[in-house]
Amino acid sequence: MKVSVIGAGHVGEMTAMRIANKELVDEVVLVDIIEGMPQGKSLDMWESAPVEGFDTKLTGSNGYEETAGSDVTIITAGLARKPGMSRDDLLAKNTEIITDVVRKVTDHSPETIIIMVTNPLDVMAYVALEVSGFESHRVMGMAGILDTARFRSFVALELDVSVRDIQAMVLGGHGDTMVPLPRYATVAGIPLPDLLPQDTIDAIVKRTRGGGGEIVSLLKEGSAYYAPSAAVTEMVEAITRDSKRILPCAAWLTGEYGLNDLFMGVPVKLGSRGIEEILEVELNDQEQSALQTSADHVKSNLEKVDL
Ligand code: APR
Repeated sequence: MKVSVIGAGHVGEMTAMRIANKELVDEVVLVDIIEGMPQGKSLDMWESAPVEGFDTKLTGSNGYEETAGSDVTIITAGLARKPGMSRDDLLAKNTEIITDVVRKVTDHSPETIIIMVTNPLDVMAYVALEVSGFESHRVMGMAGILDTARFRSFVALELDVSVRDIQAMVLGGHGDTMVPLPRYATVAGIPLPDLLPQDTIDAIVKRTRGGGGEIVSLLKEGSAYYAPSAAVTEMVEAITRDSKRILPCAAWLTGEYGLNDLFMGVPVKLGSRGIEEILEVELNDQEQSALQTSADHVKSNLEKVDL
């Protein structure tokens, strides 16, 4: 199997490294517009293979020939946030970049599954769906796993328990309007509201919503990439191993949760066909209205897209 990663910046390079380290596929191709950079990074990664003990081949390129026949394509190309910028500020420039990238990707890999990472995520996934003309189960965005990972990591710190025992769910757009669902969060099956007072849960929800921004303001330059690349790798693993994981991903909605014609984070079944099912959980009025607010925000961004 073969995976291509378009955009060999922070998120792209870490993702390529993680996928190779786990030997999820036979070959990873890293593409970027900067001359020599993806070649250099992939060669450096490949030279770590004898020490790390993986056989996944790594190739770098400034073109798309090498990506031909990719099973999965991860798109991280584009601009990242700077302090003071929202994900939405990236919209116009990244729409241009993603349109060009998706055309080239699909020319060489008409059967590929696309995982969008470039922000604003929900909008860029829409651009990929439109430009590719793919069935919607083959186009998805990475956000929910990252957002739930942040939520889980903060709960683990608060309770001083292993992150492994914490399950959580975050719905909605990847932005300040995301909808963490503490009611559906558990620690080894115990509902979170039984373990933490409401004000502590509220503080964790707030920190989760601003999780990306917290990293951006600490880094001063660039945005998060360790947790994002781990999240993408989990999606790639579910697809390449056809493991039918239930994971929160940005999926094209056609009536689920009462929402239509937009990408939003929802729990999905991920397997070799991509998004094999969208799961609908019951929401109370407050949660449904938060989801609607998030959807309205994504829709208002979609209106700014000029393809
Ligand atoms: N084709 C290929 N690569 C491109 C193109 C293009 N048309 N335009 C830009 N790039 C490359 C840049 O050269 C850069 O190496 O995309 C890479 C982006 O990397 P970074 O700037 O390091 O950004 P990163 O932190 O990886 O984030 C990438 O993911 O999480 C999101 O908001 C984030 O949209 C951003 C994306």
